Amino acid sequence: MSVPSVITIDGPAGAGKSTLGELLAQQLGYLFFDTGVMYRALAWAVLRNAIDPEDDEGVAALARNLDIQVLPRGDATDGRPYTVLVDGVDVTWEVRHPDVERIVSIAARHPAARAIMRERQRAIGCQGRVVMVGRDIGSIVMPDAPLKIYLDASIDERARRRTYEIQRRGGSVDLERIRNDIIRRDNLDRHVSMPAPDACVIFSDGLSPEQVVALVLACIKDGVDDSQDTSAYERAKNPDSA
Ligand code: DC
Repeated sequence: MSVPSVITIDGPAGAGKSTLGELLAQQLGYLFFDTGVMYRALAWAVLRNAIDPEDDEGVAALARNLDIQVLPRGDATDGRPYTVLVDGVDVTWEVRHPDVERIVSIAARHPAARAIMRERQRAIGCQGRVVMVGRDIGSIVMPDAPLKIYLDASIDERARRRTYEIQRRGGSVDLERIRNDIIRRDNLDRHVSMPAPDACVIFSDGLSPEQVVALVLACIKDGVDDSQDTSAYERAKNPDSA
């Protein structure tokens, strides 16, 4: 397989999608596009405008008129991976706030709002040379993408990684609380998570980010295109047997 012009990475919260996406994009010289940020921006605007996150029409109307821009970080030195603007306001860090986290799965659930978001995501995907990360990218947004990854990991592994990530940024965390939060988000996100049937599944427990990147590059080299690559899944589950 030549290097696919679009690579999609779907999977649950904390599976390492963004880390993988960023590393891959860096290696390939592609754009990294985290679609979750668009739903976070929408949720931020829902709070800002005091809209009920359960209100299907209200959230859709807001989504329709919302200007969301995800830009390169530029000169920013605060560790941000990119800059997020909503109607011109820099909300890069605010979209990570616990208040946004609390309602994002609810605000992201409405079909009309999702249709608007998906259309905008598709427009970016269609430009090519992009690694797109989300929940429904391979199945709904870019179903013709030549390489689709479904990245998974156990709840314990995801909780450990999240805890490490927060501690690395200087925060203090309780592993059990993080674990419960991941379970809660899995339940809420179940409605929007749609793995593509032809995705290459990678189970990343025990693998470093670099090992996962190597697996994906092997998928590309092996010529995985439109068939499920269970060997990648087996290799990932049992790296010693590869
Ligand atoms: O990946 P994340 O945690 O930043 O995603 C934030 C929320 O957006 C999460 O509730 C799932 C939702 N989401 C979605 O519905 N569809 C996507 N393509 C990406 C994220």
